[in-house]
Amino acid sequence: MSGRIDAVLGMQWGDEGKGRIVDWYARDYDVVARFGGGDNAGHRIEVGEKKLALRLVPSAALHPTVELFVGSGCVVNLEGALDELARLAEVGVDISRVKFSDRAHIVLPDHGAIDQASERARGAEKIGTTGRGIGPAYADRVSRLGITLGETIDERHFRNRLRAVRSAHERAFPNAEILPDFAEMEERMLAAAARLRAAIVDGVGYMHARLAAGKRILAEGAQGTLLDISFGSYPYVTSSQCTAGGICTGLGVGPSAIGRVIGILKAYTTRVGSGPFPSELLDAEGDRLREAGREFGTVTGRARRCGWFDAVAARYAAALNGAHAVALTKLDVLSGFDRIGIVTGYRLGDREATLSEAAHPDFGVEVEYLDGWTEDIREARRSSELPVTARRYIARLESLVGLPIELFSVGPEREALIRA
Ligand code: GDP
Ligand code: IMO
Ligand code: MG
Repeated sequence: MSGRIDAVLGMQWGDEGKGRIVDWYARDYDVVARFGGGDNAGHRIEVGEKKLALRLVPSAALHPTVELFVGSGCVVNLEGALDELARLAEVGVDISRVKFSDRAHIVLPDHGAIDQASERARGAEKIGTTGRGIGPAYADRVSRLGITLGETIDERHFRNRLRAVRSAHERAFPNAEILPDFAEMEERMLAAAARLRAAIVDGVGYMHARLAAGKRILAEGAQGTLLDISFGSYPYVTSSQCTAGGICTGLGVGPSAIGRVIGILKAYTTRVGSGPFPSELLDAEGDRLREAGREFGTVTGRARRCGWFDAVAARYAAALNGAHAVALTKLDVLSGFDRIGIVTGYRLGDREATLSEAAHPDFGVEVEYLDGWTEDIREARRSSELPVTARRYIARLESLVGLPIELFSVGPEREALIRA
C-alpha cells in the first residue's frame, strides 16, 4: 500500500496560488488534508461567482463531496476556525465534511499577544509575522506546554491546562500586562471548544482508515518551502515544516505512503515580511508586478515584495521536496513586460553562493533576460494559443528548474488553466 498520498505545495515564499491549484487537482481526490501551519495562510479560490479566502480549511471546500481534514501538524485558532466554518456554511458549503485532528495544537489569544509583543521588541529585526500567534503556539508545542485539540474535549482538564499555560506565560513574560484577561479568555476558549467538539477526530485513526480503504488523498501545503522552519531563509521563516517532509510528520504517515509531489511556482517571485529576497525588484518593474499581480496579502493586506523568478531558489526547493512536476501560476501577470528577468545564479565574490549567504554585503545575483510578449493571454486554454515568447519563457524555466511544468494558470478563475 504505497504512494496513496499525492501532494501540492508551495516552492517559494508562500502565496504561489496554492489554493486555486489545489482546487483544480482536488477533483481527482476523496480527501484533501492540510499538514501544517494555521490561519497565517490565506488561500484564494474563484469559482464562478464564488470567491473564497480560506485560512485553515483545505482548499477543496468548493468540491461538494471531498472530505476536508486539518491534520496533526496544524495549529488551530478555535474562534478563527469557527468563523471560517460559519463563512463557508453561509455560501452553501457542507461543513460537516471538515474534521480536525485531536493532535493539532490550539492557538490561544495569549499566543497572538506574545507574537505581537515579540515583534515590537525586535524592532528593525522583526520577522514581519502575520501576528496571529503561530510562532508562540508552535514554541509551546515544542516546549511540551501547548494544548492539543483533543485536550479541549474534557472541560475540567481544559480549564486546568489553560491555567498551567497562563502561569508559564506569566513566568516567561513578567510584564504580563501584554496578556489578555484570563477569566475572559478562559470562558471564550471553553465556549469555542464546545462548539468545535463534534469536528475533532482521532487524527491518526482518520488518516489510516482512509489509507486502508484505498481513498485518494491529497496533502495540501501551506506557506512555502522558503518559509520552512528548517530549510527556509531562517530566521525569516514561519514556525512549521512547509516542505514535503512535513506531510509525514504533519499527517502521521510514513514516506512509503507518499506518491506524486507537485510544486507550485509563481511565474515571478513575491514575499511578505522581512528577510532576504535575492531577485527583489525595488524599482518600477517591481511596482508593476505588484499592481498587475494584485500582490496584496490575503491575511494582513500588506503589500507583497515582488521580483523576478528565482531559478536558483526554485531548484533548491524542487530538491528539498523531491518534486515530480511543477504547476506554474500567474503567467498572465507578465504580459506587457518588454523583457522578463530570471535569476540564474548567486555570487559571493568569484564563487557561487547559497540562499543562506544572501544577507552578506557582497552577495550578488546573475540575471538573464528573455523577450516578453504584449498579448493578453488570459483567455488561452492551450499552449498553442500562447505567444511564442511565452512558450520560450516556460521552456527556459523547465530547463533551469529541471522539472516539467504540467500545468500553468493564466488567471485566478478555476478554468483559467492550461495543461501542458
Ligand atoms: P496561496 O496562499 O498560495 O493560496 O495564494 P494566495 O491566494 O494568497 O495568492 C494568490 C493570488 O493570486 C490570489 O489572489 C489568486 O486569486 C491569484 N491568482 C492565482 N492564480 C492566478 C493566475 O494565474 N493569474 C492571476 N492574475 N491571478 C492568480
Ligand atoms: P500562504 O499559505 C506568505 C510569512 C509572514 C512572515 C513569516 C512568519 O497564504 O502562502 P508567521 O505569522 O507564520 O509567524 O510569519 O512567514 N508567512 C506567509 N507569507 N504566505 C503565507 O501563507 C504565509 N504564512 C506566513 O509574512 O514573513
Ligand atoms: Mg496566501
